[in-house]
Amino acid sequence: MKILVTGGAGFIGSAVIRYLISETNHSVVNVDKLTYAGNLASLGEAAQSERYAFEHLDIVDAPGLDGVFRNHQPDAVMHLAAESHVDRSIHGPAEFIQTNLVGTGVLLEATRRYFEGLSAERQNKFRFHHVSTDEVYGDLDGPDGLFTEETPYAPSSPYSASKAGSDHLVRAWHRTFGLPVLITNCSNNYGPCHFPEKLIPLIILNARAGQALPVYGDGGQVRDWLYVEDHARALVRVLESGQPGETYNIGGHNEHRNLEVVERICELLEELAPEHPAGVARYSDLITYVKDRPGHDRRYAIDAGKIARELDWRPQESFESGLRKTVAWYLDNPDWVKGVTSGAYREWTAHQYGKH
Ligand code: NAD
Ligand code: TYD
Repeated sequence: MKILVTGGAGFIGSAVIRYLISETNHSVVNVDKLTYAGNLASLGEAAQSERYAFEHLDIVDAPGLDGVFRNHQPDAVMHLAAESHVDRSIHGPAEFIQTNLVGTGVLLEATRRYFEGLSAERQNKFRFHHVSTDEVYGDLDGPDGLFTEETPYAPSSPYSASKAGSDHLVRAWHRTFGLPVLITNCSNNYGPCHFPEKLIPLIILNARAGQALPVYGDGGQVRDWLYVEDHARALVRVLESGQPGETYNIGGHNEHRNLEVVERICELLEELAPEHPAGVARYSDLITYVKDRPGHDRRYAIDAGKIARELDWRPQESFESGLRKTVAWYLDNPDWVKGVTSGAYREWTAHQYGKH
């Protein structure tokens, strides 16, 4: 297949493209606007492949998208481009509405125009795969209960509301226009090339720099963590074998409280980077409780039974092995880190954490 991947310079999109190029024979067209979160360095050797092409484009640009469809004639779309950080959505929701809602609508329409011109045989095989989040389900009360594909939508943040809206658009384009869509809703990812505004890379890099490790509220919020390469494998499995019109939840069976995650990173750093920054006796001494995020969801946890039963996908990485690999990756890749922690990143951290 030739697959048009949107957001392929981001954290998960780049993992998907690296997987597609190294583990399959598919070709990729990466459509990315290169926002602060997009970084072509994350593609590594995949970017050198003859099966890879890049189109620098905003997904709200309808004529630009028509040109990409015309020139590349893809067999499938994997839609990952989004504004993805909850805290940024609280400080400035407009970009989230623009890319996640308007952008998804424009992409669906460009896809429909292209799809309607395909032969019946190509239409039969064509897929539009929308990559979404478990945050559309809101949060779970207490330690029991899991999100299934039937859980009603109840998003809490501008980010999750914009993703929920985009999921509804995609389902409507299936029901109304017959576009063969697939939707996946995944739990929190972690791993290499994760932009360091998110919890795990932020903690690793702050600890190494001898800076405060900000824990929101009481640190008792629970997230279900999935190693990004397991997610990439799941996405390709759904694209190749999922039933059009169906939704698949993807998760790691790896629930941890935020404070536990921060403490585990500190322990790994004691082992992997024992030379502390000046004035720091132990990394965990840097843990600092800060004001909670408004509307903070308490617990997310995924029932990934459907994708296991129907598509035989299960995560391969344990949280222990995945977190160790992730910490080691950030220690071994200072150039990548330097490339993304530029002026815009420093402005964001000063804005978000300066006031605490
Ligand atoms: P990311 O923020 O790391 O990357 C987003 C990418 O999209 C960047 O390369 C950016 O340049 C690009 N982009 C943003 N706006 C664009 C636009 N208007 N036009 C074209 N490109 C644009 O995000 P991520 O963490 O890789 O998430 C990818 C997708 O997976 C998102 O849709 C997100 O909602 C979903 N998701 C993320 C997680 C997670 O834990 N990170 C979990 C579940 C689902
Ligand atoms: P994050 O990585 O932003 O992902 P999401 O909000 O999509 O789950 O945050 C993960 C959890 O960590 C979330 O409960 C918020 C919390 N958190 C902190 O405690 N401190 C921080 O500095 C950040 C960025 C997040």
